[in-house]
Amino acid sequence: MRAAVFDSGVGGLTVVKSLIKSSIFSEIIYYGDTARVPYGNKDENTVIRYSLEVLEFFNNFDVDLMIVACNSASAFALEELRRKAKFNVYGVIEPGVLAVENISIDYDENILIIGTNATIKSNLYQEMLKKRGYSNITAIPTPLLVPLVEEGIRDEKILNPVFEHYFKGLPKPKAVIMGCTHFPLLKEELERYFADAILIHSGDAIVEYLKREKVAKNNNKKTELRLFASENVHRLKEVAHNWLST
Ligand code: DGL
Repeated sequence: MRAAVFDSGVGGLTVVKSLIKSSIFSEIIYYGDTARVPYGNKDENTVIRYSLEVLEFFNNFDVDLMIVACNSASAFALEELRRKAKFNVYGVIEPGVLAVENISIDYDENILIIGTNATIKSNLYQEMLKKRGYSNITAIPTPLLVPLVEEGIRDEKILNPVFEHYFKGLPKPKAVIMGCTHFPLLKEELERYFADAILIHSGDAIVEYLKREKVAKNNNKKTELRLFASENVHRLKEVAHNWLST
């Protein structure tokens, strides 16, 4: 099976990493809209417009389905993409919510959602979790974590004050949804900060979802990855080399 994977930039490679590890696709065609990143600070109409333009790019390829790795685009543009696409389109938000159900925590446990302004503003994670019966949900936009990841900053002397800025005084979460492509790169740091919390990773969540829905199954073959970007594809390839090799 061939999958189109779309992200606003390089961040979606964290989702690609899970997809490659799962061996469910023979080929992944990745498009990062690096010329227009970030989507997370843009308004809904802009994110929809950009996403539909990316869909046109994928129309040049014979793909079986499309995965919107970007949480911000999943939050704002999924419906429009589904309306216009000639293949099935999957976002990462519903899989993230199902991943919370999979860890079987009580419905009154604290759940924290972190993401871009767009993702948190869309209210989608919050509404889907509430519908499933979860009652203690906190959602915080943490856009500053995106450039920190892009700069490769993992130093806790820098990260911890930022975590404190966003999370100080919050109820201790049992689950944290990393509702942004970049945040899995801070997984260890977030795990240390939120000791005992279970972190939800969009990439692992979409793999579980695709298997559960029987959309794709493990074919035990190597996944061929083709990378495209709206600018500076060299940087995308460099980031892919660094992130996917660890
Ligand atoms: N890919 C985006 C997301 O997952 C983060 C970067 C951006 O703001 O575009 O929401």
